[in-house]
Amino acid sequence: MTNEKRQPVMAGNWKMNMNHLEAIGYLNKMAFSLIDADYARTEVAIFPPFTDIRSVQTVIDADHLSIVYGAQDISAHDSGAYTGEISGSMLKKLRVKYALIGHSERRAYHHETDESVNAKVKAAIKNDLVPMIAVGETLDIKQAGNAVEHTLSQVQAALKDVRSNYVGELVIAYEPVWAIGTGEVATPQDAQDMSMAIRQKVAKLYSQDVAEKVRILYGGSVKAGNVKSIMEQPDVDGALIGGAALDPDEFLRIIRWPDQP
Ligand code: 13P
Repeated sequence: MTNEKRQPVMAGNWKMNMNHLEAIGYLNKMAFSLIDADYARTEVAIFPPFTDIRSVQTVIDADHLSIVYGAQDISAHDSGAYTGEISGSMLKKLRVKYALIGHSERRAYHHETDESVNAKVKAAIKNDLVPMIAVGETLDIKQAGNAVEHTLSQVQAALKDVRSNYVGELVIAYEPVWAIGTGEVATPQDAQDMSMAIRQKVAKLYSQDVAEKVRILYGGSVKAGNVKSIMEQPDVDGALIGGAALDPDEFLRIIRWPDQP
């Protein structure tokens, strides 16, 4: 079972799905179904597209919902001539909690590098946002037997020059690229092994105390049908869910992971 010192988090990454009206409908459904016991056990986080965030904030505030929300990306820059970018201070004004940084789709399609991921982590911290750093290997790297080495080097690069008092608060999401949107989920043991390796790396870079605090999520084809065995692993503190989180009923079942088969 996940460590009692760390509150589990179930994070729904909507990617480029759902407009703001659909977001409002989704949240109303969640608000109707979620009860205090759900929120007490598990932090519920959604990552909608930027254009939905104001509507999400309005619904959550109006109904005093305990759902938190994050942005799917953040600019490394503070302000200025960066067409199309969204700054950390803009997100903070919308009371965004998390900034998802370094998702493999951004690394693959938007040329994000370990260096830009590190700059974005610092931009998030500077603006009082919690970085949720995505790491993980491609199929080629896995087949070459370099998954752990690759993933840990992404972790180390993302945290370069980040002070230890911030590291305990942040979230690292291990998302093997070959498991994203493919229906091919890592085994619970694989998720545990990598999560433990990440935690040990944080302990080595910082301290055991910091490593015990950092929350580590698994992502990649998580569904209600496989979430429980993943969550039962001692170093897995939650899940980052793509496709299955677009259906509020399925996301609800995932949030209620102890009740699943
Ligand atoms: P899927 O759950 O659709 O595999 O996506 C995982 C993911 O990329 C979440 O960020």
